[in-house]
Amino acid sequence: MKEFPPFSLQEPPKVAFGRGSWVTDQDGNEVIDGSGGPAVYCLGHSDPRVNEAIANQLNQIAQGYRRFYNSDPLEQLEALIRERCGGGLTEMMFNSSGSEAVETCLKAALQYQQAIGQTGRTRFISRMRSYHGNTLGALSVSGYPLRRGPFQESLLPVSFVSPANDYRPPEGVDADQLVEFLANELENEILKLGPENVCAFIMEPVVGAAGCVVPAPAGYAQAIQAVCQKYGVLLISDEVMSGAGRTGNWRALEHDGVVPDIMSVAKGLGGGYLPLSVTIYQQKIGDVLREKDGGLMTGHTFTAHTAGCAAALKVQQIIEEENLLDRVKTKGAWLGQSLKERVGDHPFVGDVRGRGYFWGIELVQDKETKQPFARDLQIAERFGHALRQEGLLLYPVSGFGTEQQGDGVIVAPAYNATDDVLEQIVGRIESALKRLFD
Ligand SMILES: Cc1ncc(COP(=O)(O)O)c(C=O)c1O
Repeated sequence: MKEFPPFSLQEPPKVAFGRGSWVTDQDGNEVIDGSGGPAVYCLGHSDPRVNEAIANQLNQIAQGYRRFYNSDPLEQLEALIRERCGGGLTEMMFNSSGSEAVETCLKAALQYQQAIGQTGRTRFISRMRSYHGNTLGALSVSGYPLRRGPFQESLLPVSFVSPANDYRPPEGVDADQLVEFLANELENEILKLGPENVCAFIMEPVVGAAGCVVPAPAGYAQAIQAVCQKYGVLLISDEVMSGAGRTGNWRALEHDGVVPDIMSVAKGLGGGYLPLSVTIYQQKIGDVLREKDGGLMTGHTFTAHTAGCAAALKVQQIIEEENLLDRVKTKGAWLGQSLKERVGDHPFVGDVRGRGYFWGIELVQDKETKQPFARDLQIAERFGHALRQEGLLLYPVSGFGTEQQGDGVIVAPAYNATDDVLEQIVGRIESALKRLFD
């Protein structure tokens, strides 16, 4: 295989084609796509059934603009999502990106609070070490200093509470006190701001890039929801990365027995075949918005894009027909166990954590103290490079630890990756660790 320069992310090769879990570049190098890019390609690449569904739609019409037309793919996709979600989550708006989905969550929350007469409720609370998108609103609620960078001074005022991370709990907090600590911290923040000023709390049920895959501790989501409900604060679940089955449940928060007021889903929704995201919210919110304002007052040119909906509908139908979420649950447990057994003991692997087909491997320079590597060593990028040399693409993430340090990779295979591919992913990670640190 061709040698890439050490920080290959800056000079990637040109992609040629992808088939299933494999991607080939224009020089003929074939690699396993072990993370679906940033946890997107849940059915792998070039599935002929999805391509055919898109082609059929394009041959009819690419888009029937939403203000002029409804469409079968849109209606069917809405029905399918309603069935997956349950719990009163019946209302939705489709857009193109995860950031747009989060913006729409924030706007739905603001509009609802205004509509019910809670006009002071304009403030959002979020968590540190979180990522919700790159548009200004979504970035405002992102506790990710590396990405806020030069935009910091132009962002909305947002309060941040501690991450729900039991590998790196707040100083002086034991793992068994973490949930109580976090619930109290949120309650105190709401009281500090004045409940009459707080619109919503936003969180990722399993943090993605901003934490290197961090599932919240058991009981956290329920405790947080109780606090939100006590003070009339809406709960927004950002499942752009963790939703659409990535963790084994269609909704990531289903695992915690919690139904949010508003949620976002994106990457695995259309599996990357065409861009599509969705904001889903409670019927009671939809009813109020319809009555007061005629509906949710936002949208974009490509809202409910017809071909995008047709692609996502086919992706979701295939996931259902092939029982892929059952596979993600059972094989995901195998994947996590294998990673822990074969990679977890490595002297520079601090933690292996995740759920379903969503795993993070955090690298540290000292396993005992959990001290991250100095950022200028660019360990995540170097690990990504070593993996690529072993013929495996994983998503390198950095800047999620203490200060702006923190290095790791995300493992997020296609839901239909074969047993052999999953086995090779684990084997190639072992080899890449050796290659990097030897
Ligand atoms: C949890 C979460 N929210 C929002 C976003 C933003 O999505 P997009 O990059 O599609 O705008 C991301 C992207 O990685 C994400 O992981």
